[in-house]
Amino acid sequence: MLLGVTGGIAAYKACSLARLLVGAGARVRVVMTRSATRFVGPDTFAALTGGPAYTDLFEEPGAVLHVRLAREADLAIVAPATANVLAKLAHGIADDLLTAALLEATCPLVLAPAMHTGMWEHPATRANVETLTGRGARIVGPEAGSLAAGDEGPGRMAEPEEILRVAEEVAASGRDLAGARIVVTAGPTWEPIDPVRFVGNRSSGRMGVAVAKEAFDRGADVTLVLGPGAVEPPPGLRVVRVETAEEMRRVVLEAADGADAVVMAAAVADFRPGSTAPRKLKKEAGPPEVRLVPTPDILAELGAERRARLLVGFAAETADEPGELLEAGRSKLAAKGLDLLVVNEVGRPGTGFGAETNRAAILAADGSEEPLREWTKAELARAICDRLAALRRPLR
Ligand code: C5P
Repeated sequence: MLLGVTGGIAAYKACSLARLLVGAGARVRVVMTRSATRFVGPDTFAALTGGPAYTDLFEEPGAVLHVRLAREADLAIVAPATANVLAKLAHGIADDLLTAALLEATCPLVLAPAMHTGMWEHPATRANVETLTGRGARIVGPEAGSLAAGDEGPGRMAEPEEILRVAEEVAASGRDLAGARIVVTAGPTWEPIDPVRFVGNRSSGRMGVAVAKEAFDRGADVTLVLGPGAVEPPPGLRVVRVETAEEMRRVVLEAADGADAVVMAAAVADFRPGSTAPRKLKKEAGPPEVRLVPTPDILAELGAERRARLLVGFAAETADEPGELLEAGRSKLAAKGLDLLVVNEVGRPGTGFGAETNRAAILAADGSEEPLREWTKAELARAICDRLAALRRPLR
């Protein structure tokens, strides 16, 4: 485990964290920034962890220390994480041993921010935290309480026990989808009117891509069926590009054969033009009459097959009040024979289609639910994969 300690007064609490981690059985490698050493000495960590606490990128000439530390780590924790280190990590700056090691590392990352309230609430920090959570980093805290210089407010580092709990959770969830074959759909479909025009929707594909990435990171064999114009998929996944609902149906049905789960995050068009003009419709001919006909409901078709396969649907709904949204979700969950349904609210600015966050609830066939709230897409993806991992166990 790589424990990064940066320069905030809470660095003294990182000593307790190091002790707790060692007590929990972890092999801990500590890397301190130069400013962290103003608050606690490397020798304190060396005594607590039984190994050196590194501070210098060039400490072991020829050993390429940052690469070695990055490769050895199964989990990285930065506690305390200052506003400065969050900014550097968000932007890929690697000007010391810790930031260089974290840029090279591919393991899960837990960040325990600690700073004054103004720094925590500054739009720059908010944006950096959003970038980092969007990439899958787990943020723990900060809590409200007394800060340096006698101030009070949100910004106090989470307690070492809480950081340990989150680190254990992240470590345990590491590979819990290993061996699972999961099909994930993402993005819109485009239903052609003629060779240049189509009927589409505002889906960016970000939600489905987040689920695919999370499942892949947790060891699943993922096939991502990606609609047109959607975001770039992360490297390493099997990606099949499709354009129309009919194409998506064909690819999904084939990939779903033998799969353990299908997550339909795509915003499949419900209607398509009844016919597609072979040549571009001329403006001079006047506005065309486009008659829409229903597309096949892929998810309902899979739900009707009754195989030992988990099915996750998404329902984008507009609602005047939350009860209405959940009610619509519950009936869709049952109607399509799903194990999980993510209902998300659309039609409000800044959430849902194309946005970074979703206002959503997760409804399960067993009646349990994750209540309606604001999630980043990475967080929602994590919660879906947690549920999939838990639901999959009895199947094996
Ligand atoms: O019924 P509604 O379109 O709201 O259901 C949404 C869910 O159904 C999504 O998971 C979506 O991917 C899926 N769907 C589908 N085929 C369609 C339309 C929606 O699989 N033609």
